[in-house]
Amino acid sequence: MTRNYNPETAPASPNEDNYLTVAMPKGRIFEEALGLLRRAGYELPPEFDDSRKLIIDVPEAELRFILSKPMDVPTYVEHGVADAGVAGKDVMIEEERDVYEVLDLQISECYMAVAALPSYDSKADIAPKIATKYPNLAAGYFREQGEQVEIIKLNGSIELAPLIGLADRIVDIVSTGRTLKENGLVETETMMPITSRFIVNPVSYRMKAERIDDMVERLEKVVEGDGQS
Ligand code: PRP
Repeated sequence: MTRNYNPETAPASPNEDNYLTVAMPKGRIFEEALGLLRRAGYELPPEFDDSRKLIIDVPEAELRFILSKPMDVPTYVEHGVADAGVAGKDVMIEEERDVYEVLDLQISECYMAVAALPSYDSKADIAPKIATKYPNLAAGYFREQGEQVEIIKLNGSIELAPLIGLADRIVDIVSTGRTLKENGLVETETMMPITSRFIVNPVSYRMKAERIDDMVERLEKVVEGDGQS
């Protein structure tokens, strides 16, 4: 049974009661993260899957879930309004938040890559423009490569940028490779593999060590089991 969040009766700060608050990313990671928690023994009701609620309480397990944009999960955890959360490595690198990354959940596997139109010639490009949702990550990468670039921050549909002349290359997540292919782009550099991580607020880890350790251990068992099968 879930309990509707009610601001009248809910504790002012969930961290003050016995609840463990977990920030979950809405979108493509959500389903996999939910599956992992269920397999770790958390009974999460079916209505969880297609709910539009942003706060879902599971009183039996003393759990509260906050559903947020993937890029915001580390922010909630850093500020301590969520004790823990699930965040992609891409988001962790981009956001550089002060949180503990305690477990590689090995879900939502993909990678970060540079892509361009097949006709693009990097050698002939003296002032390359790079479009991305990840300006910090991209800037760090090109700095390491010793390449001077201009970063253009976009919020989505990154593949559009080279097609309409906004940028020469893009830095983005590649999962199946379909978006690149269907938009006639080719990968020019593979940057780094990405998976989702279980992250924890440092103060919560001290105050709620037993509960958090229990969750980490349960998740770890499922992840390790998957790795062996
Ligand atoms: C992500 C990413 C790519 C696409 C890659 O976008 O930014 O566009 O998925 O997946 P693929 O390799 O399986 O095609 P998302 O769908 O999250 O939406 P966005 O463009 O709004 O960021």
